[in-house]
Amino acid sequence: MDQKKIAKLDLEINKQPAELPILSGSMGPDVIDIRKLHAKSGLFTYDPGFLSTASSRSEITFIDGEKGILLYRGYPIEQLAEHCDFMEVCWLLMKGELPTAEQKTSFVKAINAHSMVHEQLIQFYQGFRRDAHPMAVTVGVVGALSAFYHEALDVSDIQNREESAIHLIAKLPNITAMAYKYNLGHPFNYPQNHLSYAQNFMHMMFAVPAEEYKPNPVLARALDRILILHADHEQNASTSTVRLAGSSGANPFACISAGIACLWGPAHGGANEACLNMLEEIGDETRISQYIARAKDSNDNFRLVGFGHRVYKNFDPRAKLMRETCHEVLDELGLQDDRLFKLAMKLEKIALEDEYFISRKLYPNVDFYSGIVQRALGIPASMFTAIFATARTVGWVAQWSEMISDPEQKIGRPRQLYTGKSTRKVLPIAERE
Ligand code: SDX
Repeated sequence: MDQKKIAKLDLEINKQPAELPILSGSMGPDVIDIRKLHAKSGLFTYDPGFLSTASSRSEITFIDGEKGILLYRGYPIEQLAEHCDFMEVCWLLMKGELPTAEQKTSFVKAINAHSMVHEQLIQFYQGFRRDAHPMAVTVGVVGALSAFYHEALDVSDIQNREESAIHLIAKLPNITAMAYKYNLGHPFNYPQNHLSYAQNFMHMMFAVPAEEYKPNPVLARALDRILILHADHEQNASTSTVRLAGSSGANPFACISAGIACLWGPAHGGANEACLNMLEEIGDETRISQYIARAKDSNDNFRLVGFGHRVYKNFDPRAKLMRETCHEVLDELGLQDDRLFKLAMKLEKIALEDEYFISRKLYPNVDFYSGIVQRALGIPASMFTAIFATARTVGWVAQWSEMISDPEQKIGRPRQLYTGKSTRKVLPIAERE
């Protein structure tokens, strides 16, 4: 990073203004390095929700919210979605470069070598109720992986970090698919390593012993693209959760379990399930206006799920690609007149013409169409966030590993603006009112 400029903070409490270096990255806004601010001024900065805070340096993903740009290691998401598959994107996010054919072959082999889970881990599922949400099961089972993989838990060793990353990327489809099969009361399917990652995922979710299952290649390609679009996204809430948990040296399985728990929230990765439920509740185009009115009413906590984003103040490039994938899947399945897809496109059109959404730069985000695509693929709404978590696992482990290897990284320990009681004396209980 270049350090060219200085920010001078005239605090009127010291004779000299506090001077703080301004650092520049390779793209995006410069940052004021405030690490010495407290030592120089006795002050903290205040930024709940981290609206103006860079929590780390990273070389993995770049987002330009104003221009609707998303790059994985410098490659535009549009090009990756068109020319690569999810395994190539996993390698890219972890290693920094797209794989050669030979590197891809050996990576896929390594993933396949770990696609099964320990038979004892499968017993965990029996402890859950049949109607347990797949995310509740996934949080628990992923956290428990550290009870099975002791050998690669020295997080300071890059080789161990890579082994844990392979374990997690390889096993998440199996773990989440088993959560779905458990809901259904179906027997679990073992992975079939001759299939691609996405085809294997569909096999583990949809195959039943009574019939032969052949994944539809168009639908498998659509699922593969969904995985690519969700793979990483800079310092979002769940990735920041993984980084913070990892900064204490916690084992990678526990860190990813924490990320899954955070992703589940409806304001974050849970929005795709919430968005489909919202579209079902709206039901038909005649009711759109009343829901738009509710979304605009500050006294109503209803929000148009799938709209808005902390960073994108223009179209989320993933939403456009997801809409294209929607068209492809619905055409393949002869569902061009899918009721919810037509409702979603009408809702998008009305919202994007409404001053409230225009003035707040609220556009469809990645979750707006992903629920409709996944529903068309036969995936139930309860599994949408589990699919998101499966995709985001590679982004989480790449960011986690980058954090550990960063020489400037310390345990995350924010301070606060204290607004509680000043120091006071404890009275004996008899004297308390
Ligand atoms: C993801 O960070 C990431 O990168 C996340 C993600 C990833 O890949 O990891 O991209 C995945 O989480 C996508 C977002 C999915 N969530 C939703 O679709 C839920 C609906 N969206 C909102 O809850 C909201 O837009 C957020 C949470 C996404 C962003 O919230 P911010 O940045 O804190 O914005 P805000 O709440 O301060 O809203 C600014 C204004 C407010 O109105 P005013 O107070 O100015 O009058 O916009 C309004 C909000 O009320 N607003 C909405 C709205 N989103 C924001 N009003 C109606 N409907 C909405 N969806």
